[in-house]
Amino acid sequence: MSMDKRVAIVTGAAQGIGAGIAKRLAFDGFLVIVWDLMEKACNDTVESIIKNGGNAIAIGANVADENEVKSAMEQIISKVGEPCVLVNNAGFARDLNMDLMDIKDWDDVINVHLRGSFLLVKECLPFMKKLGWGRIVNISSISAMGHADRANYCAAKAGMHGFIKSLAVELGPFGITANVVAPGLIVTAMTDATAKRKGISLEEHLAQAVKNIPVSRTGTPEDIAHSVSFFVSENSGFITGQVLYVAGMPVN
Ligand SMILES: NC(=O)c1ccc[n+]([C@@H]2O[C@H](COP(=O)([O-])OP(=O)(O)OC[C@H]3O[C@@H](n4cnc5c(N)ncnc54)[C@H](O)[C@@H]3O)[C@@H](O)[C@H]2O)c1
Repeated sequence: MSMDKRVAIVTGAAQGIGAGIAKRLAFDGFLVIVWDLMEKACNDTVESIIKNGGNAIAIGANVADENEVKSAMEQIISKVGEPCVLVNNAGFARDLNMDLMDIKDWDDVINVHLRGSFLLVKECLPFMKKLGWGRIVNISSISAMGHADRANYCAAKAGMHGFIKSLAVELGPFGITANVVAPGLIVTAMTDATAKRKGISLEEHLAQAVKNIPVSRTGTPEDIAHSVSFFVSENSGFITGQVLYVAGMPVN
């Protein structure tokens, strides 16, 4: 199958890092499913891809909802065909210290990142296995190493690492790789939310953060998209179960 017939799903692709990944995979020749909570929110990403000569369609569904995921997958199959690349990027943070965090704060965050990834992988696997080729990339975070006031988010992201490493072992024999890209500070709507939570301006937050980043800048969605493109590429078939920190600093 030629690359331009291959279908790649990118979740959380209406904006931020996911939009960057969707645009990059379209540039690489994939037909991209721009997936987010609301179909309408995906319009800007889809239009930008099409304007630049790529192929994309929008899909609106909550990745943590089994029924919505199933119905979205049916639409994808009937409209454009079977996916062989899956990028689990959808996510959000609800940062609170342990005294304030309640069970809903825990479940909501865990569900988007882990339940969502599980549901999407379950749906895509039969097609990847049939093709004998597949690429799964999860977007985690340096927060997987631990961070105050975000135990739910850190647990979800660290959980992704175990999930992906297990998939790498299980799915290697089927020609399917599974890897993680773990970003550091990337300027998106999520960064605005962090600055607000800290009670400082975005500029102040970024200036403080850059002091601790050896390459002396914050990251961009394109930085992350570049790493995803690498894992997804045809020649990366011998790279699986890896966690690549894209953070402008050494992390281990
Ligand atoms: N921005 C950063 O500094 C940073 C750092 C490390 C990791 N990340 C991770 O990168 C990913 C993208 O983050 P971003 O910074 O672009 O954030 P963002 O808020 O700009 O984009 C996240 C997108 O995911 C979508 N989304 C959220 N819940 C969803 C659900 N249940 N179903 C479908 N879509 C859903 C949102 O609508 C939004 O469009 C997230 O997984 C985040 O945890 C971000």
